[in-house]
Parts: sequence; structure tokens; C-alpha cells
Amino acid sequence: MTSSTKATASAPSNIAFIKYWGAVDLARAIPANPSISMTLEHCRSRTTVEHLGEEGEHEIVWRAEAGALETAPPSFADRVRGHLDFLRRYAGAEGRFRVATENNFPSAAGIASSASGFAALTLATVRALGLAPSEAELSALARASGSGSASRSVLGGFVEWPFDHEAKCHAQQLMPAEHWDLRDVVALVSSGPKRTSSLDGHKLASTSPYWAARQKALPLRLEAVRRAIRERDWNRLAGVVETEAIDLHCVAMSSNPPIFYWMPGTLAVLEAVREMRHDGVRATSTMDAGANVHVICPAEDEDEVVARLQKIPEVNGLLRDRVGSGPRDEDEHLF
Ligand code: DP6
Repeated sequence: MTSSTKATASAPSNIAFIKYWGAVDLARAIPANPSISMTLEHCRSRTTVEHLGEEGEHEIVWRAEAGALETAPPSFADRVRGHLDFLRRYAGAEGRFRVATENNFPSAAGIASSASGFAALTLATVRALGLAPSEAELSALARASGSGSASRSVLGGFVEWPFDHEAKCHAQQLMPAEHWDLRDVVALVSSGPKRTSSLDGHKLASTSPYWAARQKALPLRLEAVRRAIRERDWNRLAGVVETEAIDLHCVAMSSNPPIFYWMPGTLAVLEAVREMRHDGVRATSTMDAGANVHVICPAEDEDEVVARLQKIPEVNGLLRDRVGSGPRDEDEHLF
């Protein structure tokens, strides 16, 4: 007889106001600069991990877009295996794992599915191993998956991941979700898979002639975002968030070789957000390593933002999300 323990956790994605782009140590996801994000509520990954007391290969299955559980592709399964091995070493445990995971949002939506996925995997695995790490430890463990933004997804509300050379480098909460009811309306303008991974983006970032300029601008930008969040100062936040995202994409577009994430629909949404502001609607935009645009707004402005985004011909769909309270243990297992 072999013993086993099973645990399920879900974790949300997050959207960065100040981005992680470039690393001093990519293998360990030690970022070149601090980043600040808002944890989402609805866009989540749910992961079940079973720890089996026998030796052998880890089994990784996933549910691709509302279908049955199936063997995960090697590109994804290999990253998961690497992280399971790391967590097993951390726990001083033996044995293999069986893992199943699913996202409740389309994987091509340009939502950070690796942030939510590796945060959920980390939490479910430590639970299956019977560990109860602190939030800081959990964040550092999630970061070690190589998906740096996963370090922010293990915390709720508004989160900062400071710059730190230490292996323990982890994110911390700036303010809880209840502090400020901000919304994220994601305008989907491209359904194709991402052409260049964030990992390649981090590698190329410092080849851009604008890299140094962005690094120089960041300390003031970070302080403005911290203060805007603390004081719920919408105007201060809105200006910095949009400038920061455009700068990140300027760095990407001018890297060697260049990376273009934007599509015509991206520009159409950016223009619509400018018009909204001109008309007194409180909205600002940001993009991760993809073409889709996250339109951030206070709760009171969300319906108007949605109504206007729905009218843009290049927008194929909208996801409506909000600031959320972070990962949670789940009762319902995936297998
Ligand atoms: C542009 O290395 O964390 O989203 O593993 O793909 O989630 P994934 O990416 P990661 O880089 C994130 C890059 C970013 C900005 C950010 O979220 O800070």
C-alpha cells in the first residue's frame, strides 16, 4: 500500500501597473526592477495535486478550454515538472505527483495564465505536502517557478514585488482588495497564441536603447503608484499606468530583435480610452506581453467603459474582472 495526499487550490491572475520586464537572474526570476500589480478575482487557475508515496514520473494533465482532462503539452508539462522537483526538494520529500489544472478564462486572452497557474500549483503542492508556509515564503516559492509574476498572484489586493538579489525575493501586499474597488475590463482584440513569450522578452529587454531611460524613470513612477493606491488617487494612478505600459512596449519594439505585441485593435482600444477620458469617463489602459488591452477603471465607471468598448469593431469580446482577495484552498478536486 502506498499513501497519498491530495489538495486543490485556486489562484487568480494579476495585472501589473508597474511591470516586471527584464531580470538580473532570469533562471531564478530575480527582476531588474520592482513591480506593482492588482490581483484579479474572477480569472483563476484551479489545480489539484496528489502526492504519491512512490517513485516515478510526475503525471501532468490539464483541461484545455472546457473539454476533458488531457495530457498537457511538453512545453507546459516540463515547466510544471521542474517546479514540482523544486518544491519536493524544498520540503525534503520523496515520491511523485499527479497534477491536474484548468483556467476559467481563455488561454489566448492575454491574461497571465502562468502567474495564476504557478501560484495555484505552488499552493496546492505545499498543501499536499502538509506544509503551511507564510505568505512571504509562498510568494518566494511561487517566484521560483520562473514565472516571476506568480509571486504576486499568491497575495490579494494591491501587491508590490520589490527588487531583491536574495533567493528569498518575494512580493508583499500594499493594500487589501477592500481598500479600493477598481475594475479591469479586458478588451480582447487577438485570439491567436502569444508570438514571443515573456521569458524571451525579459532576455531581450536590455538590448533596447530605451531600456536605461525606463529604468531611470521607474523610482518616481513606483512612488507615484504606491501613493496613488494608498490615497485612492485616481488621476495620479491613471497617468502613470498608461505611460508605463506604453514605455514597456516601446522597449519591446526597440529590442534587438524587436518584439511587436500590438495589433491594430490594440491601438483602436487605446484611442477609445483617450476619448473616454476626454468625455469625463475615468479609465486608463495597460497591456502585458500581448495585444489585448486591460482597461482599468473605478467601479462606478465600469458600465460606461464596457458600453464603449463593445462598440469597437476590432474588439472580439470582453472579460470583466475586479480587484480580488487572492488564492484559496478549494474543496472540489479535479480528479
Ligand atoms: C509583461 O515572466 O512573470 O506580464 O511567466 O508569462 O507570466 P509569465 O511572465 P513573467 O513576466 C510578466 C511580464 C508582464 C509584466 C508583469 O506582469 O509584471
